[in-house]
Amino acid sequence: MMAQYRRIKSGLPRDALLLFRLGDFYEMFFEDAQIGAQLLNLALTKRGGAPMCGIPYHAAGAYIARLLKAGRKVAICDQMEDARPGQLVKREVTQILSPGAHFDERMLHAEQNNYLVALHQYQGVYGLAATDLTTGFFQCAEVRGEPGLISELERLRPAEIILPLGAETLHQKLKDRFRYITGYEDWVFLPETAVFTVREHFHVATLDGFGLKNRLAAIGAAGAVLHYLTQSLRRDVGHLTALSYYEPSDYMALDEATLRHLEIIEPANRDTGKAATLYGVINQTVTPMGARRLRDWLTQPLADVEAIKRRQDAIQTWVEHPDLLDRFRTALHEVRDLERTLGRLCAGSGNARDLVALKIGLEQLPALSKLLGDVLSLPPETVGAKLCELPLPQEASAPETAQPGLLACLKDSLREQPAIVELIQRAIVDEPPSSLHEGGIIKDGFDSGLDELRRATREGKEWIARLQQAEIERTGIASLKVRFNSVFGYYIEVTKSNLSKVPPHYIRKQTIANGERFITPELKEMEGKILGAEERSVKLEYELFQKVREEVLQHLRVLQETAGALAQLDVLSSLAEAARRHNYCRPVVGAEGVLWIRDGRHPVLEQTMVEERFVPNDTRLDNQNEQIALITGPNMAGKSTYIRQVALLVLLAHTGSFIPATEARIDLVDRIFTRIGASDDLTRGQSTFMVEMSETANILNNATPRSLIILDEIGRGTSTFDGLSLAWSIVEYLHNVVGAKTLFATHYHELTELAARLPRLRNYNVAVREWNDQVVFLRKIVEGGTDKSYGIQVARLAGVPRPVIERAREILRNLEESELTPEGNVRQATRHRAERDRLKQLPPNPQMDLFGF
Ligand SMILES: Nc1ncnc2c1ncn2[C@@H]1O[C@H](COP(=O)(O)OP(=O)(O)O)[C@@H](O)[C@H]1O
Ligand SMILES: [Mg+2]
Repeated sequence: MMAQYRRIKSGLPRDALLLFRLGDFYEMFFEDAQIGAQLLNLALTKRGGAPMCGIPYHAAGAYIARLLKAGRKVAICDQMEDARPGQLVKREVTQILSPGAHFDERMLHAEQNNYLVALHQYQGVYGLAATDLTTGFFQCAEVRGEPGLISELERLRPAEIILPLGAETLHQKLKDRFRYITGYEDWVFLPETAVFTVREHFHVATLDGFGLKNRLAAIGAAGAVLHYLTQSLRRDVGHLTALSYYEPSDYMALDEATLRHLEIIEPANRDTGKAATLYGVINQTVTPMGARRLRDWLTQPLADVEAIKRRQDAIQTWVEHPDLLDRFRTALHEVRDLERTLGRLCAGSGNARDLVALKIGLEQLPALSKLLGDVLSLPPETVGAKLCELPLPQEASAPETAQPGLLACLKDSLREQPAIVELIQRAIVDEPPSSLHEGGIIKDGFDSGLDELRRATREGKEWIARLQQAEIERTGIASLKVRFNSVFGYYIEVTKSNLSKVPPHYIRKQTIANGERFITPELKEMEGKILGAEERSVKLEYELFQKVREEVLQHLRVLQETAGALAQLDVLSSLAEAARRHNYCRPVVGAEGVLWIRDGRHPVLEQTMVEERFVPNDTRLDNQNEQIALITGPNMAGKSTYIRQVALLVLLAHTGSFIPATEARIDLVDRIFTRIGASDDLTRGQSTFMVEMSETANILNNATPRSLIILDEIGRGTSTFDGLSLAWSIVEYLHNVVGAKTLFATHYHELTELAARLPRLRNYNVAVREWNDQVVFLRKIVEGGTDKSYGIQVARLAGVPRPVIERAREILRNLEESELTPEGNVRQATRHRAERDRLKQLPPNPQMDLFGF
């Protein structure tokens, strides 16, 4: 047996732990045992000198999940035949699981994809292929440059990455950001090899049909994914029925910092909960497929006006038909997770419940199609979005192409499958068990062979039931019982007092406390028939299940397309529901760099605020006149909220969603850059100021006039004068060189002086009312600078003891008129004003003003 073990082990990828089936256990040996014992906290034993540890077969799932979570691959080696004494059992590795390729519900999130990604650099381009085995997702792309690659990976958040063994530099660069990265044989990634792998998988002669013409880097990655799954992990990938190429530049770039700062998917503070994210308030999806797709849409905003309008049209149609929307969502709710159901059925881990779930999903299609037909043809129930008073973008002169709308296209992709529904309905019971090996799956009347076996079983059991009565009459023993146990099957039980009446042909089997147990030859004969028929019918049921499954999967491609359309319909109706529930408007989108929002609200805060009402605010930015908004105001006034809100609305508009405002025009931006909050990054180990400056550097180096930049309290991480000087010169650079629309929140009032020098900079502040020495935050953004910081009033609101407040006030008074020496004496000279005056005298920045004012 150990020889068998060694042979099997030597055929595995080196980093896979081998779980070797031995009776009721999966055993690990040698080094695997040591690793396994440590990871799973198990006792290490010895067998013939070899270290070994085992996990019980029945609880294996939970242990395997822990090994995968620890980033290990797990090879499952099963017994391929029943054990016979004295003979070596045939064993085979049935599958190899890895973090990016498994179906373990314990580790999968219904609302999140589990991606395996392969990377390949070829002729200066990064090829990337991503697949999710649980849903059949398979896409690839090419990216130029490392930052682009990293943001794409951060968006996908792969469960596992593979790259060529030779790509060591890339491995080094990625290894701190992504957990499970494995090197895989280089030759597999070579386009020559990969083209062949991919062509063979799809049975096609050319890959041009997938949009892969001359995309050698992407092909390399796609081929590697297929090779890795089939050859190294020995997995079935039949359900990867299509490969699509996407162009990252079709989407707005969103880097990891912005995703994090704006709390798009995850809250910045883990304790806050998902509800406090953009995804949390927007997500009204009713299926897990829709929820996953919505995440994609939020992290992959569109970069094309027409594509955005198509989504907006679809949402508007729903908003105008609230009744139909309700009914559509109710019907959609029944559909559940078709993508993963199909994934499981394909991968062989699906059971009869999956078939029933599929049937229930498919049964909704006629109703869903009908509702879509209605919504597309009936006149609106409510008045549509009101006409925008804001200037409309100049329409491109290209003639209107009468392309059918998105809803109509998706409706066409819903392909009803009456034959499949009928088949499953006829074959599978309505509430099947999860096991495929205990019978009870197939309906009566589906298969005559099965009916026959079942009849035999039933009749046998009836015969036995009748036997008891017959024997009682024959022997005159009224308390005689016919019973069954798993040790010796059917038997006749007679109590002690009646033993004398037992007929001679009864064969005694066992003596118990108050009687004896007997069998008879005819009883055993019938038992043989019943058990034989039962065993055969369970086997037959399994075979019939497999047949039905295969028949259903004949239509896999169409079913997957239908599931994909349902996912998109779910997202669109969810966005419509959010728009309706939260009172959103449809933004006008164009391409002229205009950003005007009337009464914008912060989508998350407006939902989570309980005590106060959220105060809406306007925004006006463009590239010609109002490029930079400098927002000053005391702490707690609402500056950070406001600038984040603008970024969130711009992002949301790019996904095609409606936004929380009364009206808005949001022209496309190529990227949203954010630099926010000095205290948020403590966990990352770098000094906060260093993080702040490296993020700022990234922005200054990469932003274009089409970008939107959000800067919050730049310079806070260092001393006042350093910080102020940096902030000053950063604003100048943004104005004179970068040219990107910028919102800049700061507590440095001195920066308001910049308005006099930089023509495209506007000062704003957050209105505050002073009342009896108290401050009231009005949360309203108004034009003009401010030079009061109200720090002391805020400290008082926060409960700082009265004497401290009084003393601070006294010191402030002195400072405002004069300056304290280090000893606390007052030195004449008004620092504040002097500082101002000095800044005023600063010669203009010699840097050329690109925008020529
Ligand atoms: N528009 C608004 N309407 C109502 N409350 C707001 C608004 N903006 C901010 N707030 C409240 O004020 C608090 C402080 O806002 P924040 O943006 O952090 O201020 P700042 O950045 O100016 O210090 C927020 O936590 C929120 O509760
Ligand atoms: Mg702030």
